Amino acid sequence: MADMTGKVVIITGGARGQGAAEGQLFLDAGATVVLTDVLDDEGEKTAGELGAEFLHHDVSSEADWAKVVDDVAGRHGRIDALVNNAGILHAAQLVNYQTEDWDRVIAINQTGVFLGMRAVAPTMIEQKAGSIVNISSVAGLEGIFGSMAYTASKFAVRGMTKVAAKELSPHNVRVNSVHPGIIDTVMTADFPKERMLRGVPLGREADPAEVGRMVLFLASEDGSYCSGQEFVVDGGMHG
Ligand SMILES: NC(=O)c1ccc[n+]([C@@H]2O[C@H](COP(=O)([O-])OP(=O)(O)OC[C@H]3O[C@@H](n4cnc5c(N)ncnc54)[C@H](O)[C@@H]3O)[C@@H](O)[C@H]2O)c1
Repeated sequence: MADMTGKVVIITGGARGQGAAEGQLFLDAGATVVLTDVLDDEGEKTAGELGAEFLHHDVSSEADWAKVVDDVAGRHGRIDALVNNAGILHAAQLVNYQTEDWDRVIAINQTGVFLGMRAVAPTMIEQKAGSIVNISSVAGLEGIFGSMAYTASKFAVRGMTKVAAKELSPHNVRVNSVHPGIIDTVMTADFPKERMLRGVPLGREADPAEVGRMVLFLASEDGSYCSGQEFVVDGGMHG
């Protein structure tokens, strides 16, 4: 079991779903957990139930990132791990894909991850230690029908992870991406699951904690020699 005693972790999009499940696992491992989200009521409730902290945070806002990092580093003196988990999906085919929907998905899923890595990097460099885990998707490995901006953003997360890993690893800051398949959260509630699960060799969707355990591994010292890599948690879907 990963030991995160004394470690301070920020998890974006932590009000529900995978972010909340990761919060629980990190708390169980002994970390101080700061969940952030745009969903204030749900975020406060989840954090209260888990024993985590909650901060309002729109990951597409540079100003919000500055506030969150100042607040966490100011109060706790360090930031050991960042999980760039917040994300949205907009389903539409190319010919009907509206520019405003494209911009919204890219702002949150792609620019949000860039802003997050850039915001925590100076603290982690100064500490000479840190781990950033960027949540991509199987959509960062192959084109997914009807998800142009989502797929573009998740490929970008995979690429940005590799650049950041090359720049930050000499400072003992590791950066990796995690690529979930079909996970049981609000995001996939309307998916045609029966049809989609035919493409999953394990034949089922995942519980959010099954992704969370990989995230915890990478954020902790258990993943001490992993950097710049992609870790797929998809039941064998992208084989
Ligand atoms: N569910 C899946 O099958 C699946 C598969 C692959 C990848 N993912 C990725 O996993 C991550 C977590 O998604 P989930 O499945 O838990 O879905 P979810 O919709 O339950 O959770 C996403 C969270 O991100 C938050 N969020 C949205 N916009 C935000 C913003 N601008 N700033 C801060 N927070 C914001 C939402 O409020 C929500 O709490 C996402 O990056 C998603 O793309 C999910």
